[in-house]
Amino acid sequence: MSQHPTTYVPKSAFGKWFESRLPIAGLVHSSFIAFPVPRNLNYFWTFGAILAFMLVSQIATGVFLAMFYTPNASLAFQSVEHIMRDVHYGWLLRYLHANGASMFFVAVYIHIFRGLYYGSYKAPREVLWILGVIIYGLMMATAFMGYVLPWGQMSFWGATVITNILAAIPVVGDTIQSLLWGGYSVGNPTLNRFFSIHYLLPFMIVGVVALHIWALHVPGQNNPTGVPIKSGKDAVPFTPYATIKDVFATVVFLIFFAYFVFYIPNFMGHADNYVPANPSVTPAHIVPEWYFLPFYAILRGITFDILFINSKLGGVIAMFAAIAVLAFVPWLDTSRVRSTAYRPLYKQFFWILVADTILLGWLGAKPAEGWYVIVTQVATAYYFIHFLIILPVLGFVERPLPLPNSILESVLGTKKSGAGMPAGANAEPQSKG
Ligand code: HEM
Repeated sequence: MSQHPTTYVPKSAFGKWFESRLPIAGLVHSSFIAFPVPRNLNYFWTFGAILAFMLVSQIATGVFLAMFYTPNASLAFQSVEHIMRDVHYGWLLRYLHANGASMFFVAVYIHIFRGLYYGSYKAPREVLWILGVIIYGLMMATAFMGYVLPWGQMSFWGATVITNILAAIPVVGDTIQSLLWGGYSVGNPTLNRFFSIHYLLPFMIVGVVALHIWALHVPGQNNPTGVPIKSGKDAVPFTPYATIKDVFATVVFLIFFAYFVFYIPNFMGHADNYVPANPSVTPAHIVPEWYFLPFYAILRGITFDILFINSKLGGVIAMFAAIAVLAFVPWLDTSRVRSTAYRPLYKQFFWILVADTILLGWLGAKPAEGWYVIVTQVATAYYFIHFLIILPVLGFVERPLPLPNSILESVLGTKKSGAGMPAGANAEPQSKG
């Protein structure tokens, strides 16, 4: 994956024979051992590794759950109870998988906001960023379909609400809805389809993650200063520096994850999903999982028609646009400076965006009535204003702080670059970036 020439030379005769036919060890060596990483990366740069770990964990626990789960509308709920009560460590598998989905989103939100803060989406990393947005979309589709599988009340009604809004899409909406339903409403064929697609999508995510990491290894990693690697002194080899840090951060994250699994396994869930799906009883409040709440708020926030677009379609457009706008951020941000650390004005707007997103999430869990609707509309408008107006305009009007001449200079806090170099910190220079 790395663009950097490998220095790897196999020791054994077999290694040499194999490497000349399939240079995979050299690829791993140049990508994950000798690969130069900026020496100033902070712990926010460990979330990519945490995400990779969570992806593997979700696939592993999911494959085992699928051995005991039955994707049939009259058996699904019972099969989940069977997993929880009868299957050896079935409760652990299920709680790891259900809470793992939440942890995956905790990590991905930190990863995305890290990218937004440090300008990791800016040239030359636009493709890397867009691949990330695609992964995020796939993650949301996977999580939505997975939540339907236990066939509880919230599964059924969540699926009903979301598949109904898809019908608002002009021309193709009805067809998409019928294809997903496999009938005239959410039912057994829907469950079968969702199970099949829920099993398929994670493997597609693995494919896009491989491209994501490939696209990362071309320009190399960004860093808290946003200043590119200019000499070997700005970088350290990936192993042991980044590897040990990634492993340490993953273990700390696992402790956090374990707390949820072992002490509050249903904290992220909804009590109604322990009631079997009943098409004739609608729950008092239909609420999605926490990680969908900001988008759910935006969907419900559009309560008025805009020209020929009715409110229902308006909500669907706004919801999808809220995700799609992320893909355009590399071009919407007009600033010459990459890292927010040197953008005093943008720093404030960044934190307002974080607060606005949290507010939208809170509103998504509230009933869509009274002043909640008005606040949702204001928060939704601000969300779009941030990306479509503030981000482009700020690049022209803001006066950024002076940048350090190099990563090393910012680390040492000195203008004399090269002073105080620790032994062993010399790595290959970046070819690009
Ligand atoms: C399964 C989900 C994902 C996995 C496994 C993953 C993996 C990684 C890894 C291993 C890195 C390098 C280490 C790091 O910077 O933390 C990385 C970097 C990056 N990722 Fe992701 N990622 C995922 C999702 C996303 C998403 C959803 C986005 C954005 C929408 C994104 C945007 C980026 C960017 C911009 C970088 C470069 C960061 C920099 O060098 O400053 N990733 N990713």
